[in-house]
Amino acid sequence: MQVKDNTFLITGAASGLGAATAERLVAAGGRVVLCDLSDAVDAHAERLGDAARAVRGDVTSGDDIQAAVAAAVALGDGRLAGVVHCAGVVSVAKLVDREGNPADLEAYNRTIQINLVGTFNVMRLAAAAMAKNTPSEDGERGVIINTASIAAMDGQVGQCAYSASKAGVVGMSLPAARELSRHGVRVMAIAPGVFETPMMSEIPDEAAQALAAAVPFPKRLGKPDEYARLAEQIITNPMLNGEVIRLDGGIRMQ
Ligand SMILES: NC(=O)c1ccc[n+]([C@@H]2O[C@H](COP(=O)([O-])OP(=O)(O)OC[C@H]3O[C@@H](n4cnc5c(N)ncnc54)[C@H](O)[C@@H]3O)[C@@H](O)[C@H]2O)c1
Repeated sequence: MQVKDNTFLITGAASGLGAATAERLVAAGGRVVLCDLSDAVDAHAERLGDAARAVRGDVTSGDDIQAAVAAAVALGDGRLAGVVHCAGVVSVAKLVDREGNPADLEAYNRTIQINLVGTFNVMRLAAAAMAKNTPSEDGERGVIINTASIAAMDGQVGQCAYSASKAGVVGMSLPAARELSRHGVRVMAIAPGVFETPMMSEIPDEAAQALAAAVPFPKRLGKPDEYARLAEQIITNPMLNGEVIRLDGGIRMQ
């Protein structure tokens, strides 16, 4: 799937990994619909120019994501070529806190709803639109890139909700790729390590330095464009399918 002259839906596109992906795909000649809950998405789309549109929306809402998919289909003259799904939230809560209180069940549900159910929602609506595309010469109709996390495999204390939500994203990759193969739609997931984004800016400097030091090489946090470069490679390389790629400089959390 080439980026040039194709149209992509990017969720979580107001910030961090999604914003960088939108920028890279536009630089490569693609068109993008930027979907995010945050109104910062409007300014980012404006910065990217005529090849970009903003749609405010919540990834857990069927109506919102249907509207974002419709906007992408319209921008692509009837054809949505791919989705890069970056919207997500991080959460930290112990099962039992210092005072002996159990974790809040609503907070757990919220993380699962946004990160896991939101991913399923985006996949189902984008896949239904892409299945209608005329296939390319090699039968390809579209590509879905989801965002997991190394926390799916190496979850830390307090990450029961976040790790479970991302492990669910990992778990859906292969069955979704197998199912959508008959439509010529590939499904991949990227599992980032620790990246320099607003999501990570909340952690104290000391903790960020310790995380950077724990990366075998390069000894630093990832840059959003490094995620975007992998997303671009996945879009353009048709043999990448049904797999989760760790993008983490070799870090393995204790
Ligand atoms: N930054 C990291 O180190 C890191 C590591 C591993 C995985 N990830 C994952 O990468 C993805 C992107 O993270 P980021 O670092 O760019 O974070 P970020 O906070 O910079 O961006 C996330 C974006 O998602 C949007 N969003 C949140 N909930 C939404 C919803 N319900 N509907 C629509 N939009 C919503 C936010 O408004 C925000 O713009 C997330 O899924 C995150 O879990 C990030």
